[in-house]
Amino acid sequence: MTTLAIGGVDCQDLAAACGTPLYIYDEGKIEEQLRAAKTTFKSREFETEVVYAAKAFSCKAMFEKVSQADAGLDVVSGGELYCAWKSGVDMKKIYFHGNNKTPEELELAFEKGCKTIVMDNLMECEKIIAISNERKQEVDVFLRINPGIEAHTHEYIMTATPDSKFGINMGSKDNIVELIEKVTKSKYVSFKGFHSHIGSQITEFEAFGKALEIMVDFIKTMESDFKIQTKQLSIGGGFGIKYIASDKPIPLDHMCKLLIEKCQDLIKEKKVSLEKLIIEPGRSIVGEAGSTLYKIGYSKNTENKHYVFVDGGMSDNIRPALYQAEYSCDIANKLDSPKNQSVCIAGKNCESGDILIRLTKLQEEEPGDLLVIYSTGAYGYSMASNYNRAGKPPVVFAKGGKARVVIKGESYEDQLRQDTNEELMF
Ligand code: LLP
Repeated sequence: MTTLAIGGVDCQDLAAACGTPLYIYDEGKIEEQLRAAKTTFKSREFETEVVYAAKAFSCKAMFEKVSQADAGLDVVSGGELYCAWKSGVDMKKIYFHGNNKTPEELELAFEKGCKTIVMDNLMECEKIIAISNERKQEVDVFLRINPGIEAHTHEYIMTATPDSKFGINMGSKDNIVELIEKVTKSKYVSFKGFHSHIGSQITEFEAFGKALEIMVDFIKTMESDFKIQTKQLSIGGGFGIKYIASDKPIPLDHMCKLLIEKCQDLIKEKKVSLEKLIIEPGRSIVGEAGSTLYKIGYSKNTENKHYVFVDGGMSDNIRPALYQAEYSCDIANKLDSPKNQSVCIAGKNCESGDILIRLTKLQEEEPGDLLVIYSTGAYGYSMASNYNRAGKPPVVFAKGGKARVVIKGESYEDQLRQDTNEELMF
């Protein structure tokens, strides 16, 4: 029987050492993806920056990898910002996003020396100016623009009446100009450019090409009609990965080259000058590098299904229940056995919707077998919950035949640590 190895480490050994469920990252693959983006997202005509979107997966070990790769970091909360600071990330490489950053989060960003804030709206802009004045502290800002394009996997749509909660609609030029004028008049805040993000798990180039075109046109209009100079443009993340056999995403290095070529062509054609182009990949850096290992418990036949139950579920991977996301799997300790049965992989959480894979071919299972679900590295751990008081599973990084725990699993006691009985005094 052939057993799956990840990063050169046998999955049975990992399960014996750490228990299941277990998130396993092939550390080398994370490095490869960071390197692929860093080396291909380059231009002779403008500066470039690869900024890892922390929401896909964050922990100290991950942030250390990002720093080692000399990439930037996109954070969207005080928690992510704090983790970055504790991990020794250079605060000058942080981009702080979010539509409703609280005053406390903004103060924390200033206190830790975060260099760039991506503003979402006018009220936030005023708050940032006020804090910078109080602290007499400089900060760079981008403005998030909603370009009226929404993309998902293969398709994209142009939305005539964009109602996204993020950013300011591109059509609301007066609001955009008013906001930028406020920034320009302020003493400590510098306007750097515009940001847009059109969606996630986009496997084709077309939507990105269209978004770039729209943004470059927009930059041109801002310059010609309002004398607003845009030095930098961030086009967000969203590059798709392979979850199941039918997914055919453009590889990240190729996607980066296409983006650069398109941007170079556009700025030449439209006679726009740009100092820097930024991308913010999250999923494409960590998604395929991560897998989740479960132990199979009971199996059960219903009228139409053969259920295989595992010792985790929606508490460690909410994506199938939340987005009908699809995954592929294997019995990790029976890789060379034929997959001659159709099964439904269900979790152990107390909810009918706790199905990890609706229908898949699988090797014949026995209790105690290890089931591996592939490509769970993005938005798996980061969206995990304690539903049913499931402890968040540990995370290991494996590379070159060695493995290390980078996040410990939560025990029952760990979860109880926050329970208390403190009277509030007013
Ligand atoms: N930049 C911005 C401003 C974003 O909003 C996002 C993702 C990214 C970058 C990174 O996108 P990525 O390269 O990872 O696709 N929980 C969902 C995905 C939500 C993505 C939200 N924003 C999922 O599990 O599919």
